Amino acid sequence: MSWRLECGLCERPVARGLATVCPDPDCSKPLLARYDLGALDGEALRRAWTGRQGGMWRFREIMPVEPSEDPVTLGEGGTPLLEIEIGGEFEGLTLMVKDEGLNPTGSFKDRGLCAAVTRAVHEGATDLVIPSAGNAGAALAAYAARAGVPSRLFIPEDTPEGVARRCEHYGADIVRVDGLIDECGRLSAEYGAETGAFNISTLKEPYRIEGKKTMMLEIVEALGWRAPDAIVYPTGGGTGLIGSAKTLAELRELGLVDGDTRLYAVQGTGCAPIVRAHAAGETYAEPWRNASTEAWGLRVPGALGDFLMLEAIRESGGGGVAVSDEAMKDGALELGAAGVGASIEGGATLAGARELRRAGELRDGETVVLFNTAHLLTY
Ligand SMILES: Cc1ncc(COP(=O)(O)O)c(C=O)c1O
Repeated sequence: MSWRLECGLCERPVARGLATVCPDPDCSKPLLARYDLGALDGEALRRAWTGRQGGMWRFREIMPVEPSEDPVTLGEGGTPLLEIEIGGEFEGLTLMVKDEGLNPTGSFKDRGLCAAVTRAVHEGATDLVIPSAGNAGAALAAYAARAGVPSRLFIPEDTPEGVARRCEHYGADIVRVDGLIDECGRLSAEYGAETGAFNISTLKEPYRIEGKKTMMLEIVEALGWRAPDAIVYPTGGGTGLIGSAKTLAELRELGLVDGDTRLYAVQGTGCAPIVRAHAAGETYAEPWRNASTEAWGLRVPGALGDFLMLEAIRESGGGGVAVSDEAMKDGALELGAAGVGASIEGGATLAGARELRRAGELRDGETVVLFNTAHLLTY
């Protein structure tokens, strides 16, 4: 099925091709893909999806590929949704983990970069660039390699050596930057403008959201086409949270789910711009000064899609919670004790869920899904 693009803020229609952000200079906000869902038969789709093998491209009718196109794939998606028993304050809840560590490069970033690289090369990109805390860089490097195009990565200098080596393994050209992800973002944009490399930075192109959207599709499917009561998401740039909200809206429009899911964002106490802005009832999030957390994926001081995240959280009746690095690490160990190889960001979701449970936000009888966004071994 075909799709069109529109601005996520001013809703201005934007031509496809190597699309970036809203072309109105006073706006410049992220673009969203819109499908003609009214023309689709939800029940027929559900049957077709269930009957298909494979990972995230099973949902291709609501993904950005034309019927004649092949995606650039490494077998991403199709990750397990595991019910875990932690006990203590979690008694009375059905607690589940979407274990994204099982993706080809070990993180959920594969889904987004798979969709973005697929679109970029079909639209004619021959060179790709990205700023990354590590996981997105590894994913871009792998998918660029798969597509046979070069990739350049700007990563913060203090990115763990193992993470950087993982990117190098796929043949990417890596530049270490004395600064945080926002400085890497500036350099990527500059490099793209100078060389013509297509910039796949978070929300600077519309399709990473479309890939991340498939996590929620798989969750709803695994629950027997029922939306979970709540999800707890480790939030950085926000594509996963925005993608999850988008999936639920699209499935509702297709008549495939009717329940509501509360979306909760977890961030580190040393960098929690979205949690702070949500608590203050803001539409946009002030950038966080002196951002610091060992959860590199969550060290995003200012996000282009802040307003989309805040809207999604608010409209879902969810919320935000900030947890310390120590609590994240303890959370990762607790998930480990339940057999899940969780990254620190995955651990953050357990720590956040505990706070939310104590605050009475997660109630008896509810199904709550945590996102282990990367495998323990990615660090
Ligand atoms: C492991 C991990 N979890 C969470 C995030 C944040 O994800 P999002 O950009 O969807 O908010 C990142 C981003 O780098 C990450 O690497």
